[in-house]
Amino acid sequence: MNKMKPVILTGLRANNDLHIGNYLGALLPLIDMAKQRAGEYQINLFVPDLHSFTTPIDHSKLQDNIMQTLRVFVAAGLPLDQDDVHIYRQSYIPAHSELTWILDCFASFFVLRRMQQFEQKAGLQLSVGGKVPDPQRVKTLIQELEAFRKKNQDLEKLPPGWDRAQIEYLLFAVIENWKFSEKALARHHLNNRRLAGVSVGLFNYPVLMAADILLYNASYVPVGEDQTQHLEFTRDIAIRMNNQFGELFTVPEPVAKQHEFFGKDQGLRIKDLVDPTKKMSKSDETGRGVIFLTDTPEEAAKKIKSATTDSFNEIRYDMKERPGVSNLLQILALFTGRDLQDVIAQYEGQTRYGDLKQDVAEAVGTFLRDFQAKLVQVDNQAILAKLEKDEAAMREQANRVLLKVQRAVGLRPAA
Ligand code: TYM
Repeated sequence: MNKMKPVILTGLRANNDLHIGNYLGALLPLIDMAKQRAGEYQINLFVPDLHSFTTPIDHSKLQDNIMQTLRVFVAAGLPLDQDDVHIYRQSYIPAHSELTWILDCFASFFVLRRMQQFEQKAGLQLSVGGKVPDPQRVKTLIQELEAFRKKNQDLEKLPPGWDRAQIEYLLFAVIENWKFSEKALARHHLNNRRLAGVSVGLFNYPVLMAADILLYNASYVPVGEDQTQHLEFTRDIAIRMNNQFGELFTVPEPVAKQHEFFGKDQGLRIKDLVDPTKKMSKSDETGRGVIFLTDTPEEAAKKIKSATTDSFNEIRYDMKERPGVSNLLQILALFTGRDLQDVIAQYEGQTRYGDLKQDVAEAVGTFLRDFQAKLVQVDNQAILAKLEKDEAAMREQANRVLLKVQRAVGLRPAA
């Protein structure tokens, strides 16, 4: 194995059924690279099994879920016969846990406490009408209100076009910033009660993820948009430790450069079909807005046909104002391998959403049929044999980086 090859790495947790968001956001970009550019890059695709129970799970199912996730990797096209492609289970490489502890001691409690995923999963995130307020919008509204009041010298009147929505937004800003208001204190106590039920593992999630990345000197980490903040965190801790101890880690490429590398203009966030203001997520209880990789083409078509769109009666790509229809256009482009701009040009201006839905359902159906046919044929023995070989090699690679860090922090004598 050539140690100098840049590393592309990603992981998918083995919790539940994987869905097309996981597939398109993380798996497909990595597998495309493995198919087209293995030889130039080292490709690591792993199951972060230690990340699986940061929120409660049924532990009796974990082993099966891990194996099923590995099977999904193969059915999605990961070539197992390439020397530069590696699959492994995180917990089989103890260096992940060991490096996590060391990184923990260099990670800021404050930064981790403010991580969006932590706030969401711990149920701490503030919302206005079910949406997370955008700080930029709060700022714009305050400026607008101030300018209006200055001009009119009237504290009773509101700027033209303002209604409850704007006021609620501003109220949120007051609650958030005015730390000692009664409401803020009540919220603080509520959050503390909620935190009692939140595991330290959930809090520590990004640090373990940083260890996953830094142990292999990964430069590129294809993930969905929801994981961008964790990537930034990884870069930040690597840069800080490099500054303190000399070149310990390869710093992953900046997020914008990573998007460029994978041929995107931004991180991918496939939306829930029922509520397209939310991301498609495994934890959706009804499953109606989520297309699982195990759904039959018919089930998927039903979900797509009842997907929420909008009442503009005209197809236009606009993720902010028309997230439902834009999400469908994006899904279609990704499953047909076409350029998004091409797909937009074909449908924009059309007044029948049904035709677009039909085309999306066909593209998704074709993918699911093909994927599921491959899934039943996956050879478990071939996976187990590859795991054994790769996990031994990755243990060595990870231990080399770990030793460097242990020496730097004084846990081992200097070389
Ligand atoms: P997990 O299993 O929650 O998600 C796996 C990947 O799927 C992406 N994803 C999406 N992409 C687009 N649209 C969506 N609706 C959508 N939902 C999920 C996630 O961003 C992710 O890339 N923390 C990681 C697992 C991990 C990891 C790592 C990844 C652990 N250690 C090191 C990379 C490197 C996660 O979210 O897994």
